[in-house]
Amino acid sequence: MSEGTAKKEEKPRKFQAIRGTRDLLPPETALWNRVEQTAHAVFGTFGFGEIRPPIFEPTGLFARAVGGETDIVSKEMYTFVDRYDRLDPSPTVGQLGDYFEKVKRLYEEEKIPKTPFNKIAVEEAQAIWSKIEPWLEDRPTPDAQIATFDRLFVFMDAMQLGSEISLRPEATASVCRAYIEHGMQSLPAPVKLYYMGPMFRRERPQKGRYRQFYQIGAEVLGGSDAPAIDAEVIEMVMTFFDRLELQGAQLDINSIGCRECRPKYVELLRAELLKVKDQLGADSQRRIETNPLRVLDSKLESEQGIIAKLPRIADHLCEDCAAHYAAVKHQLEMRGVIYRENWRLVRGLDYYMRTTFEITAQGLGSQNAVCGGGRYDGLVELLGGPPTKGIGFAIGEDRLILSLQESGKASAPKGRDVYIAWMGEKARATAIRAAKDLRKAGFSVELPPVEQKFGKALGQADKLGARFALILGDNEVSEGLWTLKTLADGSQTKFTEPDLLEHLRKSL
Ligand code: HAM
Repeated sequence: MSEGTAKKEEKPRKFQAIRGTRDLLPPETALWNRVEQTAHAVFGTFGFGEIRPPIFEPTGLFARAVGGETDIVSKEMYTFVDRYDRLDPSPTVGQLGDYFEKVKRLYEEEKIPKTPFNKIAVEEAQAIWSKIEPWLEDRPTPDAQIATFDRLFVFMDAMQLGSEISLRPEATASVCRAYIEHGMQSLPAPVKLYYMGPMFRRERPQKGRYRQFYQIGAEVLGGSDAPAIDAEVIEMVMTFFDRLELQGAQLDINSIGCRECRPKYVELLRAELLKVKDQLGADSQRRIETNPLRVLDSKLESEQGIIAKLPRIADHLCEDCAAHYAAVKHQLEMRGVIYRENWRLVRGLDYYMRTTFEITAQGLGSQNAVCGGGRYDGLVELLGGPPTKGIGFAIGEDRLILSLQESGKASAPKGRDVYIAWMGEKARATAIRAAKDLRKAGFSVELPPVEQKFGKALGQADKLGARFALILGDNEVSEGLWTLKTLADGSQTKFTEPDLLEHLRKSL
């Protein structure tokens, strides 16, 4: 090895955030906090309470709720096998007998998942084990037998000891799981819950699309599917966006029917699509079989003319769905919520029925959906709960923040209120006390840890964007008159301690 290579290898590795994830840093995090505080406040006025479900759940929950065939579940989830936590993960040859017996027992008791893979692994391991067991008497083990031991280890290692869990790609499934688990159907209906936090999808990263992204969402669960509930949920998001002064928020709505009328429409759509199959791209051709509704989602330029002529679901809704949709629109109008009907709005998750909606905002490029939601009656039942109606939405917080920043609605970062420039031992004690009192009064204060010349301290105060510098030298302390410098115009005034607090209160 050359000296150069050795040096290279010695260099400590530089770690970077994983592709599609990022650090949110100050001052931007102040905007994140403002957005989240506004959500707490606005959702609170609509009677919603916060739920904080876990970040990982059994994979099966998402497969069931969101749909095994959806992109989210089939391609984008971060899934891993949890280890069975009472099993020593690395037995020695001497412990192997006990270890294998234990694995077999746990498998039979279904504490280790009975997956087809595990079935093969246990059977193979069993066969090898019965061959090995008599050899354990012979010591030392002949070389020829070592390979057989290795084979046993390979099967034991490959066994999926724990169950499959996934980082949540969305939170509606978790909220429904929690609703069932905590018997929330016995609470006064409807149960109104909201959440905020990270979600994980292994998508191709680009502007506004991340692998760890943040959602602020809300769900209404209970016995009623009154159109006023749909309208109020939508009104709540729009109120929230309004409060944040989000620019160019455009609400699109649609109804995708129910178990009665949608399958009939899907068949009609499939038949029509088959007639024009040759003119469609590969993705859409495939979707004619798997999920014809998703063809309506296509952004491909060459397909737009063809899609425009396809039958529209609004013309094929059953009587109940048509009446529900009309009432939702009426209810939105009563609330002064401006909407656009978009018959092509189908959502990428399986649980929706009837009302679906999406909100786009400006400054986001191609990833401009800042909120998506809809009705999902029957989802709680699908997850083993009682018959329950449900509707909700999730806002992409990263995109919301991007849009606010692009339109200049992200308020300028706030610097410190007061920088305490102190010199001398007596002044140090006074500075510590002053910092404590000012912070108690709610001001943001920077207290330099070591003594600095006044010139340097004032330069530092400027760099930190401080509004005022409080100058404390031995003179100020003995006179009991403190000097306050306004950094914007350089003016200086002397104050007694109580007057200073009063002055700051008035001017900040
Ligand atoms: P969704 O449409 O999959 O719906 O996601 C909602 C929003 O999350 C999107 O409109 C977008 O703003 C944001 N989002 C999704 N993926 C990413 C990503 N990779 N990077 C950044 N932002 C992203 C749901 O998740 C449903 N659970 C909404 C819902 C709640 N429906 C009923 N209740």
